[in-house]
Amino acid sequence: MAHLQFDGCDAVTLAKEYGTPLYVVSERMIRERLREVRKDFLERYPDTEALYASKALQTLDICRIVASEGIGLDVVSGGELFAAAKAGFPMDRIYFHGNSKTEAEIRMAVEYGVGRIVVDNLHELATLDEAARALGRRAKILFRITPGVDSHTHDFISTGKLDSKFGIPLDPRVRDEYVGAALRMEGVELLGFHFHVGSQLLSNESHLKAVSIVCRLMAEVRDRYGFETRELNLGGGYGVHYSGDERARPLSYFVDAMMADVRTACAGARLPVPRVVIEPGRWIVGEAGMTLYTVGSRKAIPDVRTYVGVDGGLPDNPRPALYGAIYEATVADRDDAARSEVVTVAGKCCETGDILIRDVALQSPMPGDTLAVFTTGAYNHSMASNYNRLPRPAMVLTNAGEHRLSVRRETFEDLVSREA
Ligand code: LLP
Repeated sequence: MAHLQFDGCDAVTLAKEYGTPLYVVSERMIRERLREVRKDFLERYPDTEALYASKALQTLDICRIVASEGIGLDVVSGGELFAAAKAGFPMDRIYFHGNSKTEAEIRMAVEYGVGRIVVDNLHELATLDEAARALGRRAKILFRITPGVDSHTHDFISTGKLDSKFGIPLDPRVRDEYVGAALRMEGVELLGFHFHVGSQLLSNESHLKAVSIVCRLMAEVRDRYGFETRELNLGGGYGVHYSGDERARPLSYFVDAMMADVRTACAGARLPVPRVVIEPGRWIVGEAGMTLYTVGSRKAIPDVRTYVGVDGGLPDNPRPALYGAIYEATVADRDDAARSEVVTVAGKCCETGDILIRDVALQSPMPGDTLAVFTTGAYNHSMASNYNRLPRPAMVLTNAGEHRLSVRRETFEDLVSREA
């Protein structure tokens, strides 16, 4: 029986050597995606910048890989910024996001000298202005706007709707106050605007709607304030393959259409084309990751279903419970065997909703088998918890047949190490 091969590595060997649950992430595949960003966006369009949205998967190694490919970083918290600094990430290539940044985070971003701060509300703007002036700096900012576009994805990851906690509504009564205030401040330099319409989008429709809305905004603030937008950040959101027929689109599918529309709209309004920035997360790392589990139990309920229990679940992958995400899997020990049995893969938490995959055809998983769940590179490690005091898994980086430990497994001692 053939073992599952992943980036030239034997999955069963990896499970034996490093233990399970185990995040396996292909450095080679991540670099391939980063190079596609360079070739099909940065090199194709002058005066552009690309960031990796590190909330999808942030480790010191991933930060170093991204930096080495000449891509910038999107961070959303003091913790992500700290880790990026620790990895030696160039600060001027970091964009700091967040709808509720603390004063400490705002000061930290100014002190570290991040490239841009993406401002979400007036209170943040005032705090930032003060912090920057106190340090004798002028922070370069973008305003995050709410384009009012309803992207067709799970409600929890649709972020561009008017009724959203993110961004500034485009109602002129609100918007003008922001732009007017920023232009009067000495501690901030307004460069332009940012939007992010949502995540796991397989069509560019919402992106293009948002582009047309933000281009109209650029013309309006030019007319009203003489303010010329110098930078436009179009967010991320490009989808990947999880199950069934859905396929990740090439980057060019999104960026070519958006760049064409930006150029046309700018020409129509006689605006100079601003510097355009993109910031995909999931598209860079999602398909580069898989999770290995050991099957621990089997239980057949006659005429109902067969449960197959594994040694991880909701704490290492909350996405099925949170978003109803559907994953594909294989029994790594018999990857080529017939998928002759429909089972439900259950996690080990005391939580009825801790089901990793419902009704999936597999190769009769038996206790002791290694089960591989695919496309777990994004929003798994970064969203992991210790529910039921499960230690968070280790992460191994593969590279065309080679493998090395990148994040060690948590120990029971780690679990109590912060407690008095
Ligand atoms: N830029 C901003 C401002 C964002 O808020 C996000 C994601 C991204 C970029 C990157 O989006 P991506 O290219 O990865 O779709 N935990 C959810 C996804 C939440 C995404 C939040 N923001 C999930 O597991 O599906």
